[in-house]
Amino acid sequence: MTENRFDTAATDWDKENRRIELAKAISSQIALLPLNDEMRAMEYGCGTGLVGLDLANRLASLVAADSSPGMLEILKAKISAQGIKNVFPQHLDLHHDDCEQDFDLIFSAMTLHHLADIDCILAKLFHCLKPGGIIALADLEEEDGSFHQDNPEGVMHHGFNRGKLARNLERLGFSAVHVNTVHTIRRKNSHGDEKPYPVFLMTALKG
Ligand SMILES: C[S@@+](CC[C@H](N)C(=O)[O-])C[C@H]1O[C@@H](n2cnc3c(N)ncnc32)[C@H](O)[C@@H]1O
Repeated sequence: MTENRFDTAATDWDKENRRIELAKAISSQIALLPLNDEMRAMEYGCGTGLVGLDLANRLASLVAADSSPGMLEILKAKISAQGIKNVFPQHLDLHHDDCEQDFDLIFSAMTLHHLADIDCILAKLFHCLKPGGIIALADLEEEDGSFHQDNPEGVMHHGFNRGKLARNLERLGFSAVHVNTVHTIRRKNSHGDEKPYPVFLMTALKG
């Protein structure tokens, strides 16, 4: 298997405070959803588990899915070091694979913009949620492409228009779509000017 940008970045992923800050902002908003310790959840694009490991103790189980073997290796080491028993790393790329389980909750953080075929993947996520299950998607607001200007490999979307994404979810059969800004990343552009990049969390129910 060829190594991608995430395999290469995995070892140092958790060393950047900005990533930990963002993950905390996202997990603390997901934590406000009606979670309970009987829920079976999946995080899609879990990386090293910065978001998922924060939420796992509120859930019965968490399948931590990612297409990067490098990210999953780091996550496995953290799970074993912390003695976590209810998080199950899984190699998964829904462009090629299917997911047959029935989850109560699916969440994803900063992964959607790396997915070439969003419609196909959202349809698969819909399929593997139970009726009444919750989806929670955090990603960048639509931007001008400058967010990834230094590292464009694997970037498929320059963020998302909230209205369009909400309509996509509704077309698939989701209801009660709700969205709010959970964090703003500040990054310098090529002219040295700091630019704000808001991050939203969109939640919805299946059916
Ligand atoms: C920007 S990182 C975010 C990681 C983590 N959610 C976090 O907040 O730290 C995007 C993650 O999506 C994963 N990813 C990219 N394309 C994917 C795909 N097609 N299927 C599953 N995971 C994917 C990458 O391997 C990476 O771990």
